[in-house]
Amino acid sequence: MAFGAKGTDEYADAVQRPSTPDRNLALELIRVTEAAAIAAARWSGRGDKNAADGAAVDAMRFVLGAVAMDGIVVIGEGEKDEAPMLYNGERIGDGRPPEVDVAVDPVDGTTLTAMGRNGALAVIALSERGTMFNPGPCFYMKKIAVGPRGRGCVDINASATDNLTELSKRLKKPIQELGVVILDRPRHDDLVAEVREAGARVISITDGDVAGAIATGWPNSGADVLLGIGGTPEGVIAAAALKGLGGEIQGVLHAQSPEVKREAEALGYDFTRVLKTDDLVASDNCFFSATAITDGDFLRGVRFYDFGATTQSLVVRSRSGTIRTIETFHRHDKLQEFNSAGL
Ligand code: FBP
Repeated sequence: MAFGAKGTDEYADAVQRPSTPDRNLALELIRVTEAAAIAAARWSGRGDKNAADGAAVDAMRFVLGAVAMDGIVVIGEGEKDEAPMLYNGERIGDGRPPEVDVAVDPVDGTTLTAMGRNGALAVIALSERGTMFNPGPCFYMKKIAVGPRGRGCVDINASATDNLTELSKRLKKPIQELGVVILDRPRHDDLVAEVREAGARVISITDGDVAGAIATGWPNSGADVLLGIGGTPEGVIAAAALKGLGGEIQGVLHAQSPEVKREAEALGYDFTRVLKTDDLVASDNCFFSATAITDGDFLRGVRFYDFGATTQSLVVRSRSGTIRTIETFHRHDKLQEFNSAGL
């Protein structure tokens, strides 16, 4: 879509277009996550998670600059003084309408990438301006996420056992057949014990609970529900994905220290409120794109060949409910041009 310089008729036409994101931005966002995944994958298994993350951030920002949108980073790499790029509050895109909120996680699973383990994704989510939950200083959230068939039958304030009982009835399968994704952390020891006591299977992941949440909405992944405490930014991004997949996520902010709790409460955050999917992403017109860095349940990771690389991505738009998996071949000579642009 051409767009002229300020002052031209083309520019005037474009700014008069409705500022709601009517086109399928997810299809443009795929280029953003593909670039980040390829950049991070070059660092896969090399033991340097900061290098992997840095490469993905650079690549993501470079491509984002060309997307026709007026974006504000609501969830980024942190505050401006510690994050030179994709910092919270940064304006991104080329400044044209639509006005959108943007959440990025150039590498969800920096350690997975550095260790060459499965499950790392490059992800981005977009929604209309002012509709994305801003986690502020609240890094952690207790979460429960389910796919479309489980939507409406879980309650984050109920026990794991009660949730599994309800889910088992809804999915019409015995608790023994339910797969429960839980981050492998000492804070989850009691939760894991309860889930096993109830009879369900624990699918233990070392990192990457965006992929874990998506797996609950992915046919035949073996995952029926995600439980436990993980990152709040990842919770918001998962909400955008699950909206499109037809699933549900609920969260309650979790303070990692009394200081964080005090600071956050002073800013108006409520540690008892249940944040539902619509509280995390209030718009019904949101977009999500993920490209696998390493292999996962639903996407294959980046493969490099002499003549190029392949990526697999998932792109979702909530308004239409379209879910696309896209395999892309990137020619080596074109990747080189991309690299020579400073990546
Ligand atoms: P990074 O990629 O930033 O390392 O995050 C990975 C992750 O596993 C998230 O998927 C998850 O939400 C969060 O970390 C959990 O945090 P913690 O590792 O502190 O328990």
